[in-house]
Amino acid sequence: MDQARLPIWEQVKKYQQKDRVWLHFPGHGGGLGLPVGEATAAFAEVARLDLTELPELDDLHSPTGAIAEAQELAADVWHADKTYFLVNGSSAGVLAMVLATCSPGELILAPRNAHSSFYHALALSGAVPRYLTVAEQNGLPLNVTPKAVKEAFVRHPQARVFFLTSPGYNGICAEVAEIAAIVRSHGALLLLDEAHGAHLGFSRSLPVSAGHLADLRVQSWHKTLAALTPGAVLHQHGVRVDQHRLRSALQLVQTSSPSYPLLLSLDAVRREMAFCGEAVAGEMAEKASQLRFAVAKLLPVLTETELAPVGFRLDTTRVTILTSQAGICSFTAARRLAQLGIDLELVQAGALLAVVGPGFHVKNVKRVVTALSSLAQQKPEKSRALPPLPQADVVLSPREAFYCASRYVALQDAKGQIAAATVASYPPGMPLVAPGERVTDDVVTYLQLASRAGVAFRGLDGEDRIKICKVEK
Ligand SMILES: Cc1ncc(COP(=O)(O)O)c(C=O)c1O
Repeated sequence: MDQARLPIWEQVKKYQQKDRVWLHFPGHGGGLGLPVGEATAAFAEVARLDLTELPELDDLHSPTGAIAEAQELAADVWHADKTYFLVNGSSAGVLAMVLATCSPGELILAPRNAHSSFYHALALSGAVPRYLTVAEQNGLPLNVTPKAVKEAFVRHPQARVFFLTSPGYNGICAEVAEIAAIVRSHGALLLLDEAHGAHLGFSRSLPVSAGHLADLRVQSWHKTLAALTPGAVLHQHGVRVDQHRLRSALQLVQTSSPSYPLLLSLDAVRREMAFCGEAVAGEMAEKASQLRFAVAKLLPVLTETELAPVGFRLDTTRVTILTSQAGICSFTAARRLAQLGIDLELVQAGALLAVVGPGFHVKNVKRVVTALSSLAQQKPEKSRALPPLPQADVVLSPREAFYCASRYVALQDAKGQIAAATVASYPPGMPLVAPGERVTDDVVTYLQLASRAGVAFRGLDGEDRIKICKVEK
């Protein structure tokens, strides 16, 4: 395959060379109608690329031209049988994977630390979840072990789909190859949320990705590669998932007006990874190692050595600073760092997460270290730790809860009731409570403590009230 080509760019360039009269969407007409002011100059170049499904530019939902070729080139690089570009992020990919493989009432096994989009997929598809508990270490969710997967199939032998997230937000990778073999031995399908792992497999300094052993997997190229937000992809491996149903699912969850700047960005990232993937991922690992080494002199960081005994590998481009071990409150620390111009990806109870992407420059290591030194030297403040995440008590399926009559109530009054919506801090987007789960005392206590510590939750209304089902069980 000619990985030097950029099929979508080539078609857009050809289109731009002709003198055209713009009598179609988008209304800005290639930028001529942009709002006057800041937007005019800032968006001018992008607006020229912001095209629509004209015959020569192909159609994402039914590709036969440039988009089809660009997707084939991406499939070649990621060893997939088919690759689908996602213009609504991995969130849409997760929805499509579940809709394509689960019918209403069918069981799906998943670790409870899945991203919110998985719970939304359950509400849409009517699939019924059986969760695997994910252990915590240092207050951080680990991942699932092959042993836990085996046990889940013993408890639920009728399950035909397993949903796995690897790596997790903190870069903790499961044994995907071993898990894939177990899932397959039960005749089940493996859906892999690899939103955080598109760069894995390109550098020997990072854990290998066994993602090609999944039946379907999603990757957010805007997270760990250099695509525009929310550019992502869904890869299909093998033929065990019905391709037509998958395409229908993608049409269901993606906009009918795909963004060409996003598609162009995915095309460009694919070519870069085809030729320079090893360098891109290798440099990420190298820059992260410099940051990790410098930070570790001041504060404890999560290392692979700690994870190996529990069976996990670490994507070292994620630098998790274990502030609670140093007696520093992560929430206060994150606010102080932001005042110093250092913005982190995630603040967890007891930890801060720095993500090193292709755009990080090592000259900034010094700046991070200077800022962290001021934290490390401060009189240790009592770390505001949160209790372990409450165990999920599932009463209704997410779909039943979604379609229930519901109302918002104050947290105190919600105790014992059933949640009608997902409540999750974002990032990481892992629900504290999912639709259909009981709002236990532990959930309310966690929410109150976390809100006091400064964690913002999606799913509560403006007055911190929670949506509950109007049924009693
Ligand atoms: C594990 C995981 N899966 C899926 C998603 C959704 O990805 P996107 O932002 O590309 O929609 C996220 C987002 O943070 C995530 O953390």
